[in-house]
Amino acid sequence: MIRKAKISDVKEIQKLVNYYAKNGQMLARSLNQIYEQLQNFYVVELNKKVAGCCELFVTWEDIAEVKALAVALSHRDRGLGSALVGKCISTAKKLGVKKVFALTASPDFFLKLGFKVVPKEVLPHKIWFECVKCPLFPDNCNEVPVMKEIS
Ligand SMILES: CC(C)(COP(=O)(O)OP(=O)(O)OC[C@H]1O[C@@H](n2cnc3c(N)ncnc32)[C@H](O)[C@@H]1OP(=O)(O)O)[C@@H](O)C(=O)NCCC(=O)NCCS
Repeated sequence: MIRKAKISDVKEIQKLVNYYAKNGQMLARSLNQIYEQLQNFYVVELNKKVAGCCELFVTWEDIAEVKALAVALSHRDRGLGSALVGKCISTAKKLGVKKVFALTASPDFFLKLGFKVVPKEVLPHKIWFECVKCPLFPDNCNEVPVMKEIS
């Protein structure tokens, strides 16, 4: 059910992510950003449509980020979100990554999967470059850093 994303998924991924971005639940993505990162994306395909997506982005030697996690409203609460995070974790393990993190407006979802809330300062400095470019930085940022040791 979970597979690597393809070019033909890109517009559906953008629609899914930007639906939640409009509600402030995640950051919006341009088509260009999704094309550039396409090889890092997984999707769940149901009835020939993208029902969920997420991205695993290796940030540094021991750490990777789970990004752009979204499950379509009509398919929520059926385990798809957990399965997508599980796929990212198993890929990260195979790559030799020791920790995965997310910056999320839904920390409780990640806590159920064994992640812990951490201070943003423990994340690689590199992620701040992305944060400072965000229109919500710093005062309106609603993202909580969560991390899981996977080694
Ligand atoms: C967060 C999200 C990906 C979860 O996907 P999902 O397929 O509905 O999640 P699952 O069915 O795997 O849920 C696993 C558990 O987490 C809970 N859960 C789901 N969404 C949750 C949320 N937003 N907050 C807290 N708990 C949540 C479920 O109730 C379930 O609990 P249970 O095991 O006790 O039954 C989905 O709600 C979503 O797309 N939200 C909008 C975008 C977003 O917030 N993305 C994550 C931040 S980048």
